[in-house]
Order: sequence, then C-alpha cells, then structure tokens
Amino acid sequence: MTKAPTPTRHIISINDLTNKEIETIFEVAQGFLQELADENVPYRIGRSTDLASKSILASLFYEPSTRTRLSFESAMLRLGGANITSADPAVSSAAKGESLADTIRVIANYADIVVIRHPRDGAARLAAEYSQIPVINGGDGAHEHPTQTLCDLFTLKSKKKSLKNMKVAISGDLKGSRTIHSFVYALARFGATIDPLPAPGMELPAHVDRRLREEFHCRMVSKDPGQLPGGAIDALYVTADQPHQLSLIPDPEIDYGFLVQKKTDAVYVTRFQKERWTEKERPYPKIDAKFLDEAKYSEASVMHPLPRVNELDISFDSDRRAIYFQQAAYGVPIRMALISLMLQLHKNKSLQKFAGGFARPDHPVYAQPIDTGLHCDNPNCITADPAERRYAANKFYVIEDNSPRRCMLRCVYCEKDVGEGTDAQFVVADTTRKTFSPGLATLAGASADKLKHVVIYPTEAEALAAGFAPREGGKKARAS
Ligand code: NCD
Repeated sequence: MTKAPTPTRHIISINDLTNKEIETIFEVAQGFLQELADENVPYRIGRSTDLASKSILASLFYEPSTRTRLSFESAMLRLGGANITSADPAVSSAAKGESLADTIRVIANYADIVVIRHPRDGAARLAAEYSQIPVINGGDGAHEHPTQTLCDLFTLKSKKKSLKNMKVAISGDLKGSRTIHSFVYALARFGATIDPLPAPGMELPAHVDRRLREEFHCRMVSKDPGQLPGGAIDALYVTADQPHQLSLIPDPEIDYGFLVQKKTDAVYVTRFQKERWTEKERPYPKIDAKFLDEAKYSEASVMHPLPRVNELDISFDSDRRAIYFQQAAYGVPIRMALISLMLQLHKNKSLQKFAGGFARPDHPVYAQPIDTGLHCDNPNCITADPAERRYAANKFYVIEDNSPRRCMLRCVYCEKDVGEGTDAQFVVADTTRKTFSPGLATLAGASADKLKHVVIYPTEAEALAAGFAPREGGKKARAS
C-alpha cells in the first residue's frame, strides 16, 4: 500500500506554529548557538554544519530586504545547503507580468523550501496554495512577519528567561508594521501584557485588536488605574491565560493598578512604514535616552526589528538595554532551526515531526470564484492585485460571535475582517433556491456543504442583478 503524502507545511502566520513548536525552534536554535558559536561573540554563529548539504533554499523577494533575506541565506549556508535568489522583481519574470502563482509553481521545481517577501497582504498564503514545497513568509504587506517574531521572542527569552507575565510596550506604526502584528499575537499567546504606544493615527488595526481580544483572550485595561476595564482605546492588553489574571477577570471592581504600575520589561520600537502610507511623513514618536530615563523603563530591553530611520536615537546604542543588533544576529540560528525542522533534517525522532500547527479556531470557509459576489475590501490584499486575483478566490472564514449572535467574514489571505468600520449590508444568496436574505446571520452554524451553495453579495441590488429574488417568508429584505 502506498503511503498518503504528508501535506506540505507552510509558515505564513505566527499562528501556524503551536507554542510548543516555537519552544522547539528555540531549543534547536540554542543548540546551533552552542555547537557553532563564534568564540568571541556569544550570539553569533561562526561555523557551519552539513545538515542541509543536499537542500536548496529559494529566496523570492518582491520588496527590499537586508536582514531577512541575508540571514535566511546565511542560515542555509551555515546548514551546509545552497541558495538560489530572486531579489529584484525588475530583473525577474515579474517584470514581464508573470503572476506569483505561476512563479512559485516553477520555483518549487528548483528548490526544496522557499522564503517569500511581497508588498501585498496575503501574498504568502496565495503562494502556499500553489506550492508543492514549504513556503515561509518573509513579510507580506502589512499582514505578518512570523520569522521576525521568532527572532524577537528568542531575544527576549535570552534576556528575561520567561515570556510569561512580561510587560512589553510596542511603539510607533502599529498599523502598518507587519512585525508588530505577528509579535502581538505571540505575546498574547505566551501570556505577556501588551502596552501599545502608537504614533497618532497608527493604532493596531481593528481586526488585530479584535483577534487579540476574541481569539487570544486578551482583556483591554485602561492605563488609568482609576478606570474599569473595557472601553478605553488607550489601553493595556492583558492576556487571560495567566492564572493570576484569570482570577482577576470576573471581578469588575478589580484594581488593575498593579499592571499599570509594573515596570516595563521591553520597549519594541518600529519605524514609520512609509511604503504603506500615502503620506511620506507623519508626526512620529522618537525614542531616545530621555524617554527611556523614566523609572518604569529602567530595566526595559530596547528592541527594534530594524532598519531604523530616526525613531530610535543612535546615541542609545551603547546603553546596556539596547539589544536590537543581537535581535538581528539571532536571525541566523533561528532561521537555521526553522529550515532544518521544516525540512525534517534532524536525526532525533522528536524533531522529525514538525507537523500540526496552532489549534486555530475551526472556522468554516466560504469560497467562491473571484468574479462572483463579495470581494475582500482591503485594497492591499493580494486578491485586489489585477495580476494575481485570477489565481485567488473570494475566500473567507465565517466567524461566529454569540454575544449577540452575528457572523463576520475574515479574508483567508490577508485576514482582515470584511466590512469592518463600514455600514456594509451584505446579503446571502442561496444558489439552490435562487433567493437571498439580508445580513450574514443565516450563515450561523452553516455546514461546509451548505456554504458551497451560498453566494454572498455586498448589496441587495447586486443579488437582484445576479437573478436572485428576496426570500419569501424569511425576514423581509430591506429596500436598497
Ligand atoms: C521589517 C520588515 O520588513 O517588516 N524588517 C525586517 O525584516 N527586519 C521591519 C521594517 O521594515 O520596518
């Protein structure tokens, strides 16, 4: 009997990894650091192994990169493997109009694993749908950058031993920074308290904020100890997975002051992501020695995914709290660990099974051809790219919320919630009965089979134009 092929494992989001797998990556990275250390610099890999001597990594970069691409390639060379690189879309077939879906299907024959960076949110997920080899997301638009988060957490862990009960301030462009989005999910999952310090108008996107609260059990707590939890935008996020916090949650009178007053363990600084904004300049906080002089930051490690522009003063580089160059150096052992685990190169049996993934809530998926019904409304989603959308679908997780009962749609590619912040009035059409009902409530509890016979339209007018009639006897459809 032939064995069923193991499904290809991709790392597109930090949430594609379980906490245990993240710990495993750290153990393997630590092993490489010990085995292959540079004698003079404790966090620098100075020697190589031949673990991946028969493997090839492809780097497929559609956006500028220094650290991510070079540390991936250095990691592969230190593992004894080889690299092939496409780092300039202007000199690859992308310049001739070739789609990502076609490119990845070709590259998959030339390499064993691929790391991809792309300016569009959700591009890495689309690439994974067409790839027979493992895809690693090296940053897709403003969506996620999971391997940067692995470096960030590993660095933090090396300084603070445990991630639990840590308080981490995140500063700058929280909206446009993909590093922040992967990082906050991971912080929440490891039980840290998150203290957002956004630049004006650059708060965490609504869908990230919602997931922190609904999926990762974060509580929003006002920074003003006098206020009760909830409501405040200026907030600490508290992860509910910590027993001492769990016991606090049911008590609305609780004094959250201890969290507000707790010293900050790390300040994570990000640059203004000017490539994701129409304005080239905006008011932006500068983190310098004066800012970090505040007593609450006296023991805070200062982190930055780099590159730095002006948001973090260079005079701070010699301060004992500055750990950003170490963070960048860890790109090599972390990526060595990730590549070697994904390619199952370790002899140790417990390291050979790197399958599974984070237990995502099992949301049903609605999928229809890209030219039918509702599209993702994120203009930077890969499904909005004229060259790529033919290869994608209108694909959404159907997310149910029971209080009050309502359904929401989250794009499978960019993971943004559709219609968020608008008064969109979707309608659900039944392709068997040729009727439609207003609102998404009829999707609640729908089976995968039922979802196959559904088309969602952004308006009643579009459902009518597509030949559907308002459902009789159901809730009366609103006039459009
Ligand atoms: C980050 C990125 O590309 O998102 N860089 C990196 O990979 N270290 C951060 C940034 O560009 O600001």
